[in-house]
Amino acid sequence: MPMVPQAMFTMLACARIGAPHSLIFGGFAAKELSVRISHAKPKLMVTASFGIEPGRRVEYLPLVQKALEMSSHKPSKVLIYNRPNMEKVSMGPELSLDWEEEMATARPHDCVAVPSNHPLYVLYTSGTTGTPKGIVRDTAGYAVMLKWTMSNIYGLNPGDVWWAASDLGWVVGHSYICYAPLLHGNTTILYEGKPVGTPDPGAFFRVLSEHGASSMFTAPTAIRAIRQQDPHAAVGKKYPLSRLRTLFLAGERCDVDTLEWAKKNFGVPVLDHWWQTETGSPMTSSCVGLGNSLSPPAGQAGKSVPGYNVTVIDDDMRQLTPRTLGNIVVRLPLPPGAALSLWQNQELFRQIYFSKFPGYYDTMDSGFVDEEGFIYIMSRSDDVINVAGHRLSAGALEESVLQHHAVADCAVVGLEDTLKGHVPLALCVLRNGVQQSKEQIMDEMVKLVRETVGPVAAFRKVIFVRALPKTRSGKIPRSSLANLVNGKPYKITPTIEDPEVFKDIEQQLGQKAPRAPGV
Ligand code: COA
Ligand code: AMP
Repeated sequence: MPMVPQAMFTMLACARIGAPHSLIFGGFAAKELSVRISHAKPKLMVTASFGIEPGRRVEYLPLVQKALEMSSHKPSKVLIYNRPNMEKVSMGPELSLDWEEEMATARPHDCVAVPSNHPLYVLYTSGTTGTPKGIVRDTAGYAVMLKWTMSNIYGLNPGDVWWAASDLGWVVGHSYICYAPLLHGNTTILYEGKPVGTPDPGAFFRVLSEHGASSMFTAPTAIRAIRQQDPHAAVGKKYPLSRLRTLFLAGERCDVDTLEWAKKNFGVPVLDHWWQTETGSPMTSSCVGLGNSLSPPAGQAGKSVPGYNVTVIDDDMRQLTPRTLGNIVVRLPLPPGAALSLWQNQELFRQIYFSKFPGYYDTMDSGFVDEEGFIYIMSRSDDVINVAGHRLSAGALEESVLQHHAVADCAVVGLEDTLKGHVPLALCVLRNGVQQSKEQIMDEMVKLVRETVGPVAAFRKVIFVRALPKTRSGKIPRSSLANLVNGKPYKITPTIEDPEVFKDIEQQLGQKAPRAPGV
């Protein structure tokens, strides 16, 4: 679904009758959609005639059609919302229901009472492997936690206008475009547009101003995009932000420069806070409603939110002293609202998140804590890449690239990018005897990733290498490779079979990365 009210009506209608929903972001390809359909086995699918991206229409029906052809499960019906004043589309009388026709005959339905831990939704997110993980959210704990956060974290009163500029398809959209503001009696802004280009870099300022929003939540990428196009916010300054009190950032690491720019140009405290699809709400934040400082130190993402006991430990589970980099974990139990399970796979849930550090939830982020308890999130410790605040699996991208007949081996890592934080970079080894030009292979790979993972991967960068570094057990040391391509110190562990491969890659990139001390 695009960012239209009908998407939220659908979520709320499902919640009303206790039917778990699963929203899929529109930027994924049919293949990704089909994997989710096969796994979630929906009785009904809901879609719209098209979405709007800058410069193009995203036709959803061919996407759904293709996904259904690939999927092992078929829903009984597909309900189609035809956008107004445009030609109507259908998937045939057998399968399609038309939104307008159904609404014309629909009758009100009472709320259905469900147990507190009844699944409200399943939200797929990326992990280390190419297979997405279906995060299961409960009903009551989530509602309590969301309502609590609106006043205690975001400092909002019922009646205030609030804007979370994300997409309903991500966890931010579920929690803070849809459920939390409505539970707390806030007006929520649903925005079908981008920070720039729709039509200009003043869009965020205009929307905030026109609707008198008190607080906003967005990703640092959006701020970087506005700043790139309008360095002094000349367009934005036309719109007075007299009601705005705070701006919250999350989704990816925010560099201090971007944060300072936002503070200056939005004219309010800008607060970085940290959370994940799994938690459904922030784990660390400056809690405005609890009277926390509105000018915390640069680079931090807040302190533990009540309910979360966030701490930093080394691989042997020893508590680390302030400012020492380690694994960020949460001491159990987790508070209400945190994930209950993976969809129909409690055992995998336990294995992924709770087995490496018994007694803790493993966030798979690394960072450190300072003397005052502020948490600094530095990077993922698994193979997830964060592209424009969107969470992608390096493994899924590699699977996609490896489908190209000319590619013998491939590793995908995050390359630092001034706009999107990171973009995926594929290091590829070609098969012997390949005749095609590298340019042609590259074009085909980009097309392949768009068709199998989707445009959201923003996949455009490939380099061809002689070989990839591998451990003796055949694993690719992605974090060392990522450091190498970003010109940072990297480790060559003793288990690497052919350390010379790192040097080759360095030469090819035309850079000499410093080696990490002691290795
Ligand atoms: N449906 C279909 N396609 C989509 C889509 C959607 N809902 N969302 C994005 N895409 C497509 C884009 O059109 C683009 O396609 P293209 O390669 O053909 O141009 C591709 O996916 C990559 O999108 P994106 O990463 O968003 O890049 P962009 O260059 O279009 O826009 C920004 C850059 C900075 C404006 C944009 O990334 C942005 O607004 N980021 C904010 C991030 C955010 O809100 N994250 C949520 C987590 S809190
Ligand atoms: P998602 O589940 O898509 O919301 O992505 C969660 C991941 O985004 C986290 O595990 C972090 O790696 C990253 N992330 C979220 N918020 C922040 C933040 N404030 N600072 C740094 N990284 C963040």
